[in-house]
Amino acid sequence: MAFDQSELRSARWFDRGDLKTFGHVSRLKQMGYDEEDFRGRPIIAILNTWSDINPCHSHFRDRTEHIKRGVVQAGGFPLELPAIALAENFQKPTTMMYRNMLAMEAEELLRSYPVDGAVLMGGCDKTTPGLLMGAISMDLPAVFFPAGPMMKGCWKGEALGSGSDAWKFWDEYRAGNIGECDLRGVESGIARTPGHCMTMGTASTMTSIAEALGFSLPGAASIPAVMADHSRMATQCGRAAVDAVTANRRPSDILTDDSVHNAAITALALGGSTNVVIHLIAIARRAGLNTSTELFDALAAQVPLLANIRPAGAHLMEDFYDAGGLTALLESLRDLLRPHALTVNGKTLGENIAGAEVHAPDVIRDRTNPVSTTPALRVLTGNLCPDGALIKPSAMDPDKMHHVGPALVFDDYAELKERIEDPTIEITEDTVLVLRGAGPVGGPGMPEWGMLPLPTRLLEQGIRDLVRISDARMSGTSYGTCVLHVTPESAVGGPLAALRTGDQVRLDVTAGTLDALVTDDEWEKRLAAVAPGVFDGDRGYLRLYRAHVGQADAGCDFDFLAGVGNPEPDIH
Ligand code: FES
Repeated sequence: MAFDQSELRSARWFDRGDLKTFGHVSRLKQMGYDEEDFRGRPIIAILNTWSDINPCHSHFRDRTEHIKRGVVQAGGFPLELPAIALAENFQKPTTMMYRNMLAMEAEELLRSYPVDGAVLMGGCDKTTPGLLMGAISMDLPAVFFPAGPMMKGCWKGEALGSGSDAWKFWDEYRAGNIGECDLRGVESGIARTPGHCMTMGTASTMTSIAEALGFSLPGAASIPAVMADHSRMATQCGRAAVDAVTANRRPSDILTDDSVHNAAITALALGGSTNVVIHLIAIARRAGLNTSTELFDALAAQVPLLANIRPAGAHLMEDFYDAGGLTALLESLRDLLRPHALTVNGKTLGENIAGAEVHAPDVIRDRTNPVSTTPALRVLTGNLCPDGALIKPSAMDPDKMHHVGPALVFDDYAELKERIEDPTIEITEDTVLVLRGAGPVGGPGMPEWGMLPLPTRLLEQGIRDLVRISDARMSGTSYGTCVLHVTPESAVGGPLAALRTGDQVRLDVTAGTLDALVTDDEWEKRLAAVAPGVFDGDRGYLRLYRAHVGQADAGCDFDFLAGVGNPEPDIH
């Protein structure tokens, strides 16, 4: 190809004509490559988050080969670089604690190796923001390749959705409405193919956000993982990465206030996971943008919920794909978007979605017939959350939009688990369950404990929702009247630490407020007595994490990673 190797970043490794070059070239030859394979060619890192314990990425070994095929077709040289897999179901206390680790790993892999551009392979919840954050900080041309959703589950002819139906059937089991045998059937049927969760959980939300931001090729986020279309998309991503390098199209060209606006519109129309707020803030701030929760609150009233996908809707991601997928949804929202935003293929978002059609109007609703006009997200403020909290009105009991009730406070998750079934504690339909000690520092990592479990005795009475408040997060597949991300968290001295069992708490979703109904004098006194948590015993990564993680309203990034850095130190 007509491309001057000296213009490539990787030329610093392979084209200096010194002893270092000798060493680098000889070692690629050791692996069986000819100079013809790599000299003068854009070197594309394929950051692969495959592992034996990540079912959402179990097809990535095959897809890597398909991406490599595309890279070679376009005249590049592919290098597969493994990165930490972040398997949502398995990693304790939460993959969120390791999102920043993946972001660091992605950035350092791209910085330290002879790489000109990248394909980022992610999908399972935190892998998408982690990879994007790292690539944005390094600012090398990068294409995000989404894992794709798994096909829908099935039990006794009923379609099952990841997460949402796990919670639902577990509650029915605890209420005595289904037996052990039924539960085993659901367990076997709920996840049947490779791919990420196929509800509109964090995975589907974040891969859609990556596409709306402009980091994925048009249509990529909606393709189910096992389809042939997905393999072809992988090969296209390989070609696109080489093209992005030769055009010198970098994340800093793509990530702007306009693309972040488009991503927020997308999240709201999808009824996406509340996690998107934290991740989008962290992603945007890596590019020096000042994105905050207010962006979502300002847009939420304008954007109806159009994607009829569980947990807020009725269908699943393969239905969404067949209905036209994300490009069709975005085309129907064109007037709300900023269509001139550049994307990784060199076209604008508006060009990428032009002409996309909805094929199933019940799945991707028209704005005259939305799934819901209730805002998908609402930011709350008040004396319990001076720096904000979030609720997902579209996934809660509408009767609880305005609620006053007595708090039942748990200091940490262990206490919640131990006491929630205690028959001696008073708990009614009006009770406000409160969990503290579950934020970025306290959790640590804000585990997805925000859908606090209801005691069996209430489930047996047919009660399925209570007002719940925490400084934790909630899975995108969860639902209920759950106030999340209370900021600042109790472990750093936030006011949740001053709340006591029996205090009256008022939630007003319409007004956007959350308050303890305690006199000002009494509240001041209690706040003055609150002390931040002490975590003397921490070691290793946990110690680094607790010392440097930010609060939810700042995206939970490390203080030493947020903002635009200096990506290219001298290479010797
Ligand atoms: Fe991987 Fe849900 S467990 S996306």
